[in-house]
Amino acid sequence: MYNTLQTQLENGIFTIIINRPDKMNALNKDVIVELGQAIEEVYTNSEIKTAVITGMGEKAFVAGADISEFSSLDKVGGSGLAQKGADLVFNKIENSPKPIIAAINGFALGGGCELAMACHFRVASENAKFGQPEVNLGLIPGYGGTQRLTQLIGKGKAMELMMTGDMIGAEEAKSLGLVNHVFVLAELLPKAKEILQKIQTKAPVAVSHIIALVNGATKCVPTGFDDEVERFGACFESEDMKEGTTAFLEKRKPAFKGK
Ligand code: COA
Repeated sequence: MYNTLQTQLENGIFTIIINRPDKMNALNKDVIVELGQAIEEVYTNSEIKTAVITGMGEKAFVAGADISEFSSLDKVGGSGLAQKGADLVFNKIENSPKPIIAAINGFALGGGCELAMACHFRVASENAKFGQPEVNLGLIPGYGGTQRLTQLIGKGKAMELMMTGDMIGAEEAKSLGLVNHVFVLAELLPKAKEILQKIQTKAPVAVSHIIALVNGATKCVPTGFDDEVERFGACFESEDMKEGTTAFLEKRKPAFKGK
């Protein structure tokens, strides 16, 4: 179905594998378009409850935007590339009402690190490496990196990583808050899916509200506290809330419907 991705839907979890291992899974135009289509599937396919994005092979998650496509670009083309990526993929992942996480299985550089950061949270294998090396090419991050890296690890560290282009390993990424967990490579996807499976037992309506509100907080939306009050109230209108509270009182597990 896709040329540059492998996808699989199992137990409500949609696994998206970026599949250009000979090019370190670099994000060329085709990958961006197909990733956009795969994320659209997450939005529209009711059988998909959660999603995980990873890279094919044992070396790279994604080693960045495809540098071979840069030479033909001018100012307008460069901005256009970044905007298209934001619209089709990066902002769409961030704003997805269903959880999308990244399982980082190797190099996550440039656009790869940015792709991981657009996800709701990240887990990594021990061999994962992170960096924003655009400065080596006379460039800056263009898929949201200056914003999301600063939000995730703070101004000083973000400045240093982007100015030096240095790479950091999985444990350092964890200590900075860039990834939540580090697993051995063979365990990466199973563990990622275990977390998603757990989330899938929770109320989908509530999970969507959490995503929207936390996203608002990272954008310093001034109405964040008011939005929370409103969405808290909205939860009381959901079938999920009635089921969750009733199940607690009846001392049984809830069966949420996402309504
Ligand atoms: N864009 C296009 N091609 C890329 C790429 C990218 N971002 N990253 C890797 N590749 C290609 C290489 O050109 C090479 O292709 P070839 O076999 O046809 O020559 C192939 O993937 C393997 O990469 P190679 O560099 O030989 O592997 P390595 O193990 O020596 O190094 C990296 C791995 C990730 C450290 C190195 O490929 C790299 O620095 N990539 C660019 C990272 C970057 O700057 N990203 C930000 C882009 S804005």
